[in-house]
Parts: sequence; C-alpha cells; structure tokens
Amino acid sequence: MTSNNRANFGSKLGVILASAGSAVGLGNIWRFPYETGEHGGAAFILIYLCCVLFMGIPIMSAEFLIGRRSRANTARAYQVLAPKTQWKWVGRMGVLCGFLILGYYSVVAGWTLEFIGEAATNSFAGKTAADFIASFNGFVGNPWRPLIWLVVFMMATHLIVVRGVEKGIEKASKIMMPMLFLLLILLAICSLTLPGSGAGIEFLFKPDFSKIDAGAFLAAMGQAFFSLSLGMGCLCTYASYFKNDTNLPKTALNVGIIDTSVAILAGIIIFPAAFAVGIQPDAGPSLLFITLPNVFQQAFGNIPFLAITLSIMFYVLLALAALTSTISLHEVVTAYLHEEFKMTRRKAAWIVTILCTLLGVISSFSLGIWKEYTIFGLTFFDAFDYVTAKLMMPIGGMLIAIFVGWYLDKKIVWEEISNQGSLKPAIFKLLVFLLKYFSPIAIGVIFINELGLLK
Ligand code: PFF
Repeated sequence: MTSNNRANFGSKLGVILASAGSAVGLGNIWRFPYETGEHGGAAFILIYLCCVLFMGIPIMSAEFLIGRRSRANTARAYQVLAPKTQWKWVGRMGVLCGFLILGYYSVVAGWTLEFIGEAATNSFAGKTAADFIASFNGFVGNPWRPLIWLVVFMMATHLIVVRGVEKGIEKASKIMMPMLFLLLILLAICSLTLPGSGAGIEFLFKPDFSKIDAGAFLAAMGQAFFSLSLGMGCLCTYASYFKNDTNLPKTALNVGIIDTSVAILAGIIIFPAAFAVGIQPDAGPSLLFITLPNVFQQAFGNIPFLAITLSIMFYVLLALAALTSTISLHEVVTAYLHEEFKMTRRKAAWIVTILCTLLGVISSFSLGIWKEYTIFGLTFFDAFDYVTAKLMMPIGGMLIAIFVGWYLDKKIVWEEISNQGSLKPAIFKLLVFLLKYFSPIAIGVIFINELGLLK
C-alpha cells in the first residue's frame, strides 16, 4: 500500500463504519465498564464524555487531516507534512504504541473465542455468580489455554492484513456494526429487567463526585483516547484511504457518537446485571466475562435454545468487533515496516504477528504463572495497558493537537477541513481553538494533576 497505489474506501457510510470498526471494540464493551466501575460510575462517565467531545473529536479530525493530506503511513505522514523536522517521532511513537496495545489486546480478544466455545456447549447453564468467577480465574490463570486462542486470533488478524483490508474491512463493518448494536440493545433490555437492577442504573447515571480523584481524570482521558483509537496514528492511517470529498469533522463526530453509544450501552448491560447478582462493579478486567454469562443464564436460563443462540451471537460479534480493531492496530505497524524498511507486506506482517504474539504470551502469563513479576507494582498486562492508554496515547494526542493547531499552515488546515472550500464548516474556528489551546492545556493539566503537583 504505497502512496501511488493506495486504495480508497468505497462509500461515505463505509468510511464511517470502518473507522467506527477500529474505534468500537473491547475498549467499549470490556474496558469502559471496568474503568467506570473502578472509578465510581456516573461522575467518571461525565468526565469521559467531556474528554470525547472536547479532545477526542477535535483530535480525531486532526488525525484524519494529517492522514488524508499526506496519504502515507503514520510515520511517513509527518515527513511529508513537516520534512526534516523531529515531528516524525510522533508517528514512530504511534507505531510503537500500536505494537504494545496489540500485545495485550489480542490476549483479551482470544478470551472471546473461549467464551464462544463455552456458549456453544451450554457451559453457562446452572452456574452461580461464584462459579462464573472461579471458572474465569481458572481459565485466565491456566498457562496454555489462553495462548491457543491468542495464536488463533493473531493468525486471523494476520491473514486479513496480508490480503489487504480495504474491501474486507468495509464490507464486514457494514454488516457487523448494525448487528452488534441491535444485540446490545436487546441485552440492555434484558439486563434492565433483572430484579435488583435499579442500583446499577443509579451507579451509572447518578454522579457522586466524592469518588473522583486525580486518577479518575487520567483514567477517563486514557479511556477516551483508547476507545476512539486516538493519538497513535491508527485513524490517520485509515484517513490516508479516505476520498477527497469525505467531510472530516462530520465523520469524526459520527464515529465519536457511535463509539460512545456502544460504550454506554455496554454499561447499561453490565452494571444492572452486576448489581442484580451481587458482583462488585470494581471487579476489574474480569467484569465483562463474569457478569455477562450471568445475564444470559438469568434472563434466558429457562429457554436453553435462546440462551445458547444469543450468547453465541454476542461473543461472535464481540470477537469480530475486536478483530476490526486488531486489524487496524496491526495495519499501523505493518504499513510502517513495509513502507519504511522496504520489505514485502507479507514479511512485515509476519514480523508484527510473531513479535506481538510473544508480547501476548508475556501479557497472558502475567495474569497467571508470572503474577508475581511486576513493574512499578503492575503486572506486565496492566503495565502495557497503563503505558499505552494513560501515557502514550494522550501524549500522542497532545502532540497531534499542537502539530495541527500551531505548526501546520492554517491554509492546509482550512483546505482539508472544508474540502478545498466546498464545505463551509461553521465549527472551524472552534475546532482550531480546541486543538490550539484547550486540548494541549487540558491534557497537560491532567498529567500534572496525576503527579499530585496541583495540591
Ligand atoms: N479503539 C479500540 C477499542 O476501543 O477496542 C482499541 C484500539 C484500536 C486502540 C486501534 C487503538 C487503535 F489504534
């Protein structure tokens, strides 16, 4: 995929759905609920929404602009727009970040495959909440089983990336995303009707600001960047395949709305269900994998056919949502190696697959047999998550905002945002303001706050 034979997404809907396919994934359905649970619920969500609106959507527009203008992989993009400067390091950091995320994301993606198997064999039947907790911990702590699924998932990602993804991603996203959305709505209704679910809704929508500390701000910002695939060149890479008439800020807004709706829906499924069966909302990364089988069991246990069908559908769609995200992560690193080191796409993809699988093995072991090895008190799995979502992505986002807000010629910014003057985006000034001042300052303040220097 060099700049002279770059493909384009076929339709406007395809552009939105493919970008949303990268954004919507485990971040929304797995990570958002447990971060919300660990940081006290509704108040955290309000901060999250502000981060999406005032940082996420402007920075996404900025990434789109960089990608479409340069029509290059994310590292090369800065060399095209800012030749002979150090800006190329922003792109390179993004590539490293994509590599690290793939190294633990693919482990969780693998778990979804195990759960497809469990759903298909009706293993959820007759289990209590305590059984679900025990069997999840047993599975994750097992040294080999998660690794098999990790390898299967990485190979699926590998095959799609090697074949080239434009048509595949666009087509798959068009069918899958609406199906996932419908199923989530159905499950939300089921979860809401469980007895005792009211406490979950309160947790989700009634803010308690006493639970907010510096860590909650950093977590909400990190979650926004992670969930929107921002700050590391992923959407920049996708935008290099956008057509010239794609409305960039409008696409960013649509992706932001879809991504946030899926996250909130996931919250509406998980929390009422968790409270209904007495599982603590701060159960951490295991939350989704413990509460959800319970929802299927409690809501449809009497009608096994329905319980099996719906749970299989859910985990298949979750796996596919994760797949459209792992593809986009893999693509960032593969496109970089392929174009910058002049190796074939196939060879580049193999290098990424093998190294990310090795990283995945480390992440997976760190949840079981290597639990006692920690870095700053975090397991490898948690450390990869922390470093990427809470450090690299917001720092990348800040630099992208500064690049477009301060460095790039305003004429270029206007040309891309207005599609060479054919659109009259009323929000142009607001967008530039948010990129130039608000985003860098807000990200900086959140970091300083986290370090405890504001007290
Ligand atoms: N946004 C994805 C999710 O929420 O699951 C995760 C992700 C994909 C992050 C691609 C970064 C990225 F480049």
